[in-house]
Amino acid sequence: KRLVVLVSGSGTNLQALLDEIERTGAERYGARIVAVGADRDGIEGLARAGRAGLPTFVCRGKDFGSREEWDAALTEAVRAHEPDLVVSAGFMKIVGKEFLARFGGRFVNTHPALLPSFPGAHGARDALAYGVKVTGCTVHFVDDGVDTGPIIAQGVVEVRDEDDESALHERIKEVERRLLVEVVGRLARNGYRIEGRKVVIQ
Ligand code: GRF
Repeated sequence: KRLVVLVSGSGTNLQALLDEIERTGAERYGARIVAVGADRDGIEGLARAGRAGLPTFVCRGKDFGSREEWDAALTEAVRAHEPDLVVSAGFMKIVGKEFLARFGGRFVNTHPALLPSFPGAHGARDALAYGVKVTGCTVHFVDDGVDTGPIIAQGVVEVRDEDDESALHERIKEVERRLLVEVVGRLARNGYRIEGRKVVIQ
């Protein structure tokens, strides 16, 4: 299976996928990354892709006159690589109708909280501020809401009294990277069905 991975930052989830595919081989893993896209330049995620010899593309919001034009450009940039599965690994933009029309049902996101708790751009920070004792991460299919699509898998992470946002987010990311690698491989190898809010991996 062909994966396109979308990033906006450090790209450690991308790196976890790259390392696993390197370790097990694309055949056994069931997928290989064919391109990496971002919504901004100069991020470590793109540098990681470059070091792995992967094609990259950038679709910056400010280069387009409207969200719809940006969405259309992103859709075309991803389509050009003919992915079977698109993975948002820290991609901090909300895709639009055209992207979902083309990739809905094969577009996966990872979020650093136990959805439906703490959706949005600051999952770890919001969980800490709320005072939950456990939080975690969620891998889900992207639908037309924000962090609201059908959940595929979740991992639980304890919150410690001494945690600040970065310590907690880093502890979440340790679980998140393993969960994403495991889920993407299973989706790619086994195939899956989405039945309402239920995801069935064969
Ligand atoms: C991940 O925790 C992701 O869930 C969140 O931002 C982080 C991205 O980390 N949206 P990285 O860029 O993969 O290191």
